Amino acid sequence: MSKTSLRKEFQINKDSTIIDIQNVKKYFKDVKAVDGVSLKVKKGELFSILGPNGAGKTTLVRILTTILTPTSGNAYIKGHSVKSEKSEIVRFIGVCPQEIVIYDILRAEENVEFVAHMHGISNKEAKEKANILLEKFGIAGRKTWSKNFSGGMKRRLNLVMALVFDPEILFLDEPTAGLDPQARRLVWDYIRELKNKDITIILMTHDMVEADSLSDRVAIIDRGKIIAQGTPTELKEKHGSDNVLEISFIEQIDLNIVKNSLGKIPFVTNSKEINKKGRKTLLISFKGGLKEFIHILQSGIINNIDEVENMKFRQNSLEDVFLNLTGKRLRD
Ligand SMILES: Nc1ncnc2c1ncn2[C@@H]1O[C@H](COP(=O)(O)OP(=O)(O)OP(=O)(O)O)[C@@H](O)[C@H]1O
Ligand SMILES: [Mg+2]
Repeated sequence: MSKTSLRKEFQINKDSTIIDIQNVKKYFKDVKAVDGVSLKVKKGELFSILGPNGAGKTTLVRILTTILTPTSGNAYIKGHSVKSEKSEIVRFIGVCPQEIVIYDILRAEENVEFVAHMHGISNKEAKEKANILLEKFGIAGRKTWSKNFSGGMKRRLNLVMALVFDPEILFLDEPTAGLDPQARRLVWDYIRELKNKDITIILMTHDMVEADSLSDRVAIIDRGKIIAQGTPTELKEKHGSDNVLEISFIEQIDLNIVKNSLGKIPFVTNSKEINKKGRKTLLISFKGGLKEFIHILQSGIINNIDEVENMKFRQNSLEDVFLNLTGKRLRD
């Protein structure tokens, strides 16, 4: 096969659907936990499902990982039905559940090796992999039973256990919940590494920064329904708010001149004067990137940066998207 046709084939595979969720519902009596979800995830994608507490994320993960059977609808993982081909599916998926599942009276490496053995990995390879991963997540060399680990350490161990057999598809349900900022960054960096290895990752999160910074695409879930999906940029452009720059000036400046000039810039959507502790302050709403906007301000609107006393920037975020779509905050 020529190099070009190889590349073409890879391209086709890369674009192909690996998870196909078709109108899945899961009702617990009168609670509609998942209420008609249809989604397609492509091979090699990092696809996040972002939603508040109780939105149905964990229920959906449990269905996709064959733990729960849907009330109606079906989902196909690599063409296998989650209802009738469970034993096929569990061979190539890794799951890091929201509720930590580790064996309390095993040490960290024993927990990891145990999972590796279940997936047919040899003793030697299991030990090597366990060491590398535990080292990476900062929990290597601990000789105590896992039950004596802190919550954050247990969560990292839980993640290592999902990763040890190099799954083709990885389900992560709130993988950074309860982690300190440093450990959270470790996990994010590793997830980015996995993306480069062409692993498909489904990430359930209520953390909009996590979803925004890691995902190729995001679906927003609320009360069991997908209410929007797209790349983070698409979602913010379509459903978000404008970026806002707040600038406080020193006394001498004439704000009317600044406001007039701003009015001539097409992507400035609003500029209004506000009272901020007696300082002359402008709130400028605009579309597009901050860097480009600052360049424009510096070329003719704010000629002397010494006239600026303070600047604050609030970026359009997935939180705005959720707020605009539902009228409530992600953390309400
Ligand atoms: N086994 C169950 N029996 C009854 N109700 C359930 C069951 N599991 C989930 N639910 C309900 O289904 C809804 C969705 O729960 P789910 O755990 O899927 O939400 P979630 O998005 O994962 O929330 P969180 O962010 O808090 O983890 C909730 O109202 C929950 O109480
Ligand atoms: Mg959950």
